[in-house]
Amino acid sequence: MSKKVLVTGGAGYIGSHTIVELNKAGYEPVILDDFRNSKPSVIDGLEKILGKETELLNLDVCDTERLVQYLSKEEVCGIIHFAAYKAVGESVLNPLKYYQNNIEGLVSILKAVSKEADIPFVFSSSCTVYGEPKGQKEVSEQTAKTIPTAPYGFTKWLGEQIIEDLYHSNNELRLMSLRYFNPIGAHESAFIGELPIGKPNNLLPFITQTAAGVHEKLTIFGNTYPTIDGTCVRDYIHVVDLAEAHVKALEFLLGQRMGCNEIVNIGTGKGSSVLEVVDAFEKVNEVTVNYEFGPKRPGDVIEIYANVDYAKSLLAWQAKKTINDAVRDAWRWEKSIRSKE
Ligand code: WQD
Repeated sequence: MSKKVLVTGGAGYIGSHTIVELNKAGYEPVILDDFRNSKPSVIDGLEKILGKETELLNLDVCDTERLVQYLSKEEVCGIIHFAAYKAVGESVLNPLKYYQNNIEGLVSILKAVSKEADIPFVFSSSCTVYGEPKGQKEVSEQTAKTIPTAPYGFTKWLGEQIIEDLYHSNNELRLMSLRYFNPIGAHESAFIGELPIGKPNNLLPFITQTAAGVHEKLTIFGNTYPTIDGTCVRDYIHVVDLAEAHVKALEFLLGQRMGCNEIVNIGTGKGSSVLEVVDAFEKVNEVTVNYEFGPKRPGDVIEIYANVDYAKSLLAWQAKKTINDAVRDAWRWEKSIRSKE
């Protein structure tokens, strides 16, 4: 059996960390990326970690014809689809950019999967499909989905529906959607990590950039929520744990003789507040983060974290790294970026 795995968006944050874990597990990942939302420097970082080059397909995932051409001549044992835009706020301002790329890209890769052969397929979904889980802080895969208000989240909600409908049309396909919670941290080498383009939307890159002096202060969006300390609670999962979950997902699908369509939460099963993340970052790295409390951010969920029982039972996977590991690795990565400026 071929050990080649096509990773769309493989030069992205989660994609690049998954390339490392696929290599570690003995697979031969192929990066499919057109660098519209990632930097070519990631390829150099991967080469430093792996000690070898990774095959690169500089291709728009919406180019179905070239995708089919590639898959007709190269035998791959699986496809992991990361390639998509993911900035919630930007998606509200520019919805068509998100619908075109995230939905057309998914349909394109699924056409190639369906046309070429029965290739196991893993989709990058998100906890955002739960929306504000009505009073249910811990969500399982059975928790009702809520149509997200932001176009970004809706592309994940619709993406899962497209995959479900495809499976009903061909139940020999082996498909899996992983619902990520909040990915944070970086590879311990500091050769790859999160590279927000422009001002970060997400919490931890904003913290690390503030600690590095890029921003004067962090604004914590609201501290009067009904939570442990008034700030929002999320399930922050180390990106290396998340990457390992993708290897486990692929191996599960490769082990299936029948078709399937599985949906799995990938989180730690533990919630942490914004203030708890700031505190952990300051204590672990012995640095101070200048912050103030500001107004609530529209659309923010108050508290959500994963029930991860299904990931444990189906994939024999659970997160191993802690929030302290993540804030340490994130700071090491931030310092490595700043040292190159
Ligand atoms: C976390 C908490 C903010 C920045 C989004 C996507 C989700 C996934 C992860 C892709 C919130 C607070 C943040 C800041 C702050 N993306 N915050 N000041 O919104 O939970 O999820 O990213 O897979 O799909 O929706 O993550 O990091 O933006 O925010 O106070 O400068 O940090 O209000 O409470 P979020 P986030």
